[in-house]
Amino acid sequence: MRERELGLQLPSPLQELHDDRLAGVRLFLKRDDLIHPELTGNKWRKLKYLLADARASRASTLLTFGGAYSNHLRAMAAAGRMCGFTTIGLVRGEEEPYNAVLAAAVADGMDLHYMDRASYRRKTDPEVVDALRRRFGDFYLVPEGGSTAFAVQGCSELVDEIEQPFDVITCPVGTGGTLAGISAGLAAGQHALGVSVLKGAASLDDEVRSLQLSATGRVLDNWAIEHRFHSGGFARRSPELDDFLGDFDRRHGLRLDHVYVGKLMLGVFTLIGEGAFPVGSTVVAIVTGRGPGGAD
Ligand SMILES: Cc1ncc(COP(=O)(O)O)c(C=O)c1O
Repeated sequence: MRERELGLQLPSPLQELHDDRLAGVRLFLKRDDLIHPELTGNKWRKLKYLLADARASRASTLLTFGGAYSNHLRAMAAAGRMCGFTTIGLVRGEEEPYNAVLAAAVADGMDLHYMDRASYRRKTDPEVVDALRRRFGDFYLVPEGGSTAFAVQGCSELVDEIEQPFDVITCPVGTGGTLAGISAGLAAGQHALGVSVLKGAASLDDEVRSLQLSATGRVLDNWAIEHRFHSGGFARRSPELDDFLGDFDRRHGLRLDHVYVGKLMLGVFTLIGEGAFPVGSTVVAIVTGRGPGGAD
């Protein structure tokens, strides 16, 4: 699974953003959305070591979970095709015609099945997993969102790619794997700031801690999560967010998705406006993905 053989653009580009609202702060975009058209954004980073582990344990089938608009399901299907695994996806909810995200997963060979919401909530209970094994045979289980200790390891490498000195690195937070990883890759004096895309998800802080603990054996104190920029909740949008995204597109020719990166950038610009970053400091914002999928 060599990155070059898979056609991945790594290191991902780092671009300085010029904008008259930056008030003396330097802002760079780490364009992980350009890594690969299908394994876009944080997906390759989150899956790289997990796929290697699946291969080392001689698994041939990967089984995972996601909502109907799951970027993760789509990325797992693409990863399976590109890396030679059979993939099974369990979709939360009742059966309905495939949307574009699920259709793309099926086109990549994923065997999709719906799972009612009550079972979905219990999807990691041993008896539910056993029932899945009886139904589908042996598989390598990949948790929803792909956030594992392997994801932490993969995302921490992102930091090593950045040659530009910086003070703060920021990313959207859905399940916490990306933030846990980048925080683990920082040098002394640098900080990671996550912007939660979920409403009232205080438990995300615990998720990040436990992911860090399982991946590195310790919990770091160089990160924090901002909970103010969810725009109403997961995949919800507000007039403020829509105005911001339209304006950002006009200024920079970059249409950000409204589920993750749009909320991140709204948060970053609001914080800059509030003077949260000292004049002269350098901030890196990770463009963790792009596109219509946009959920978990
Ligand atoms: C585009 C995009 N950005 C950010 C995230 C959030 O990452 P994490 O779940 O690791 O917090 C996701 C979900 O994996 C995503 O699809």
